Amino acid sequence: MSRIKRFISFEGIEGSGKSTQVKLLGDYLGAKGYKVLTTVEPGGTSIGVKIRNLLLEPQNHMDPLTELILYYASRAQHVREVIYPAILNNTVVITDRFTDSTVAYQGYARGIDLSIIQALDEIVVSDLKPSLTFLLDLDVEEGLRRNRQAQKEDRFELETLEFHTRVRKGFLQIAAREPERVKIVDTSRSTEEVSREVIRIIEELWH
Ligand code: TMP
Repeated sequence: MSRIKRFISFEGIEGSGKSTQVKLLGDYLGAKGYKVLTTVEPGGTSIGVKIRNLLLEPQNHMDPLTELILYYASRAQHVREVIYPAILNNTVVITDRFTDSTVAYQGYARGIDLSIIQALDEIVVSDLKPSLTFLLDLDVEEGLRRNRQAQKEDRFELETLEFHTRVRKGFLQIAAREPERVKIVDTSRSTEEVSREVIRIIEELWH
């Protein structure tokens, strides 16, 4: 399986601080002279934003299979409209969530067979996989507490503690299976400390 060298993803449970770290790494690499694109899933395109709303609105009672396919619909558009063209244009792409989120949330937490997710991923993503993933790891209760402070309340934030615990375990299992690609960063520390570690890892790998 090939990996795209300058395609980076950030993963983690709710409240793990991904969006801040995506921005900080994007700023750092931009200042170093790289062309950088930061983006987010679900979303990243105008169609993706509409799908994101469908997925996250708390009033939508959604079948798990509908949910899975909507994540992949958003990803199909994102890959073709944004990520692939940017990579062809020699741009570093940093995404806030990608396939590992589907494996952790729809697979480990919702209970959809991982082989179904893998089959969809082969069709939609194929070879366009991140070469480096930062798993921002945090205690589940602490993550949910941080999110409540930020007053976020979407369909996933309303899930049980057990659900989010399964998500975290799922991410940690992915990291255990693929230690070369997935770097675990303890995100219970300050934003600056986490950012320094992310940058240290990338400097070590790229130089
Ligand atoms: P965000 O709050 O990090 O922007 O992510 C939106 C929610 O979507 C979050 O609760 C995780 C969830 N999600 C999945 O369940 N599966 C996926 O494939 C992705 C990308 C996100």
